[in-house]
Amino acid sequence: MAEFTLPKNSRITKGRTHQAEAGERLKTLKIYRYDPDNSANPRWDHYTIDLAKCGPMVLDALIKIKTEIDPTLTFRRSCREGICGSCAMNMDGRNGLACTTPIADVKGEVQITPLPHMEVIKDLVPDLSHAYAQYASIQPWLKTVTSPPSGKERLQSPEDRAKLDGLYECILCFCCSTSCPSYWWNADKFLGPAVLLQAYRFIADSRDEATGERLDQLEDPYRLYRCHTIMNCANVCPKGLSPAKAIAETKKLIAERTA
Ligand code: SF4
Ligand code: F3S
Ligand code: FES
Repeated sequence: MAEFTLPKNSRITKGRTHQAEAGERLKTLKIYRYDPDNSANPRWDHYTIDLAKCGPMVLDALIKIKTEIDPTLTFRRSCREGICGSCAMNMDGRNGLACTTPIADVKGEVQITPLPHMEVIKDLVPDLSHAYAQYASIQPWLKTVTSPPSGKERLQSPEDRAKLDGLYECILCFCCSTSCPSYWWNADKFLGPAVLLQAYRFIADSRDEATGERLDQLEDPYRLYRCHTIMNCANVCPKGLSPAKAIAETKKLIAERTA
């Protein structure tokens, strides 16, 4: 695995090399390449494709390149619908989902790198092991001590259910955490916006009975309080969520219980 650093030199150009002919719309993608099976430094590869024969999204272009030009290009994808979170990457300096980012929205040459400040497994695939371990640490499941009042299931009023709006939609793509400078600098101890939003999702759930325990775990100078309200997380989330707001609500609950 390699620490993510931008390659210094451009390299290989692949795909169409001639001037566009009638009906063609040529576009070049500049893509970060790293192969753990050789000792070479990461490099840029340039691929030129005809957008007239490609789907509209960045992921369509990546699939076209892998299918027609270079089968060694490696990236994650699954749903192609903005639901699974696996195609998160950085496109022209902004984190997002390749399957919901139109190529047309990226001006000029399309530069694609893995999510920033993560170890890279290969090409556009970051190592999410640490982020998932942090997710597991907040115990992302409903915890209860009492029996369900109905004896069957825990019902929730529409009002209580509405409190989960803006939280349950998170697809754990980690676009937010990897755009947060505090997370870049302290990922070993700061949980980061994605995991903190998930932590608040269970705190806010009327069916959960472990709020005090959850707040105890979060009340820490690093785990929660390394958020300095930089707001990149809310700016970049492809689902339009605000981890910053969830973090602020968590801090408010901790302040209220110690007041
Ligand atoms: Fe992705 Fe948004 Fe969830 Fe962060 S809050 S992990 S950016 S869906
Ligand atoms: Fe980072 Fe978002 Fe806080 S960008 S510092 S988690 S407001
Ligand atoms: Fe699932 Fe993009 S492939 S979110």
